[in-house]
Amino acid sequence: MQDLDNARLSVALVDVAEGREREFHALARELAALLLTKGYGRAEMIRDEGQPLRFYAVQQWTDARSAEKSHADPDVQAWTARLFRIARVTHVVNGVRRPDPGRLMLDDRRTRVEADRRTGFDRRVRDAGRPEGDRRQGGDRRLGPRRLRQAGEKIDLVAAARRAREYADAAFSNFKVGAALETADGAVVAGCNIENASYGLTICAERVAMFKAISEGYRAFTRIAIVADTASPTPPCGACRQILWEFGGNLEIQLANLQETKGTHQLKNLLPLPFDARLL
Ligand code: THU
Repeated sequence: MQDLDNARLSVALVDVAEGREREFHALARELAALLLTKGYGRAEMIRDEGQPLRFYAVQQWTDARSAEKSHADPDVQAWTARLFRIARVTHVVNGVRRPDPGRLMLDDRRTRVEADRRTGFDRRVRDAGRPEGDRRQGGDRRLGPRRLRQAGEKIDLVAAARRAREYADAAFSNFKVGAALETADGAVVAGCNIENASYGLTICAERVAMFKAISEGYRAFTRIAIVADTASPTPPCGACRQILWEFGGNLEIQLANLQETKGTHQLKNLLPLPFDARLL
């Protein structure tokens, strides 16, 4: 029987590399045994309904202290290092490590890049459990980092970016841009460009969205939509590509204008040979 007062939960998305499933199953059993033997809690890997290589790693810790002890345990860390060799891991719920956001961010960013490099995975977290083409109907949603995805819904990120664009403060260039960033747990954080009289302190919509998201505790992202009122698509500037890469990895980038979507790209193609934490 779980002690509801003390029990704690962590959930991560684990995308296993093709051909490494058997190894992964063995690893999953090892972790479950490790956590039980050491009294830290229970671990379960639950396969995604639609994507056979995706698992939800659910860890139920006996209490917060056990979770902390587990994270610090060299046996568990060795296990994690082995997992990273065959899977990409995106933390979705990780309450225990949140009190130390600086460390969490650095750990996660290193982890993310390492995982990409070793496995050659794409960063994008595909639409887990959301049927394609199922769009939200009507309803003018307020902007902000709220959770928009209900079961079975796919977020219309472009619509969110168009709404964000309305708030652009572009008095000097008159070039309004909106961006909407989707987090791994289904929230949308929007941004617009904000200019000022010094010109140089202008900040683009994409970075506003990303910095807002980071400041609100989000650490894993799937897609970003960028909207401008131009016939040809408006891709992110160099500075934004760098920031999006460092905080979001290989995001899917949707470019659109006020009428239509103009193309979808992967960030790694827009930023070849990137500089990031693994080179430090
Ligand atoms: N801008 C963005 O917000 N995002 C982009 O992807 C390109 C450029 C902004 C910066 C500036 O306020 C205006 O557009 C013109 O460069």
